[in-house]
Amino acid sequence: MLIIHKIGKIFGTMTVPGDKSISHRAVMLAAISKGKSMLEGLSDGQDCLSTIHCFRALGIDIIPKGQGLEIAGKGLYGLQEPLEILDAGNSGTTMRLLSGILAGQNFLSILTGDQSLRQRPMDRVALPLKQMGAHVDGRVAGKYAPLVIRGGTLQGITWQTPVASAQIKSAILLAGLYATDQTTVQEPILSRDHTERMLAHFGMPVERRGTAVTVSSGILEGQYLKVPGDISSAAFFIVAAAAQPGSQLVIKNVGLNPTRTGIIDVLCQMGADIKIDNRSSSGSEETGDLIIQGATLQGTEVNPKIVPRLIDEIPVLAVAAALAQGVTRIKGAAELKVKESNRLAAMASELRKMGVKICELPDGLEIEGPTNLRGTAVNSYHDHRIAMAMAICGLFAQGETMIADSACIDISFPGFYSLLRQVAR
Ligand code: S3P
Repeated sequence: MLIIHKIGKIFGTMTVPGDKSISHRAVMLAAISKGKSMLEGLSDGQDCLSTIHCFRALGIDIIPKGQGLEIAGKGLYGLQEPLEILDAGNSGTTMRLLSGILAGQNFLSILTGDQSLRQRPMDRVALPLKQMGAHVDGRVAGKYAPLVIRGGTLQGITWQTPVASAQIKSAILLAGLYATDQTTVQEPILSRDHTERMLAHFGMPVERRGTAVTVSSGILEGQYLKVPGDISSAAFFIVAAAAQPGSQLVIKNVGLNPTRTGIIDVLCQMGADIKIDNRSSSGSEETGDLIIQGATLQGTEVNPKIVPRLIDEIPVLAVAAALAQGVTRIKGAAELKVKESNRLAAMASELRKMGVKICELPDGLEIEGPTNLRGTAVNSYHDHRIAMAMAICGLFAQGETMIADSACIDISFPGFYSLLRQVAR
């Protein structure tokens, strides 16, 4: 259990661990590249460890070296049939992206995950992979893990995804590396494009037309890559500082890929004072330092078109909305129901316990602030982002906020609490 007390302000300079999405992709592309890759700044969360364990079980040597990990890539066809069931733990990215790679392998793989992951929809990747020629099956008519994949030679497809999802897009693009002709994925709104950028970094550029992206088969070459800080982890500290007048926080070397920076745009729309300094790049990703000064926030309307750019930040955005003056409406976020928990229901229920006027909409949340928050016992639903969002909420609440089952924070951000202690005043 994590116990949080009210604080005065947030003050200091910090860094956050490496971006989780980029870390998964770096390990995966390094494993199927020819030659060695050196990866630095990888996420130290359990999700990324799940990806590493899966690739070790597929015969890839991954060894700590200097500041990072050295991965001896074996090329597109160098993976070995695993002796054991591959365990993706809590990680949707591991299971879905890995499915794309396994669809191209001429062997049998069985993939499972924890209780939460086994209840998340996998047909969204199984269907396109089957259409490409892989044999994919799972529980409940192929909808849920454990998944059984027997891969082989694939045909390219053109696939329209009904939802903007980088996991679906990436699974299909990775399978596309094994296809005899081109593979195109078209999404309704552009989702995070780390896979596309990283494929180019490993020597395999993709072609983009609007929200459609096309990949061909080809050879990836091992690379050096330094992963920038995770904006989704930074978001908890950004909100903590931005919503508290008197706060001053610098978060150095944060990934600023435009498909991920929606949280900064929406907070600025709410009156937050966030500046970007030292813009630079790392690999094929933009980076910069964030300088946040506390302010009084105003409620806002969140345009559904921006939702894919802040999909993982909605729990902590709901906390910002509870502190802001007036109504905040978030729509177009039905995907939150199929994340590590039902994040719409979880945030509505737990924020309500702390006194927030919040209403769950069919595809979002409506929140009226400002709230005189009161600390109480809340649940994490075994969801790392719910646990951290509730911890940030607790910084503004009278009394104690007790977050049950908080160990799940380690799924993405093992150092969260010690960093919070460093910058809380
Ligand atoms: C991710 C994509 C998003 C996001 C998840 C990480 C990725 O999921 O919520 O935390 O690394 O591709 P969806 O693609 O399912 O929206």
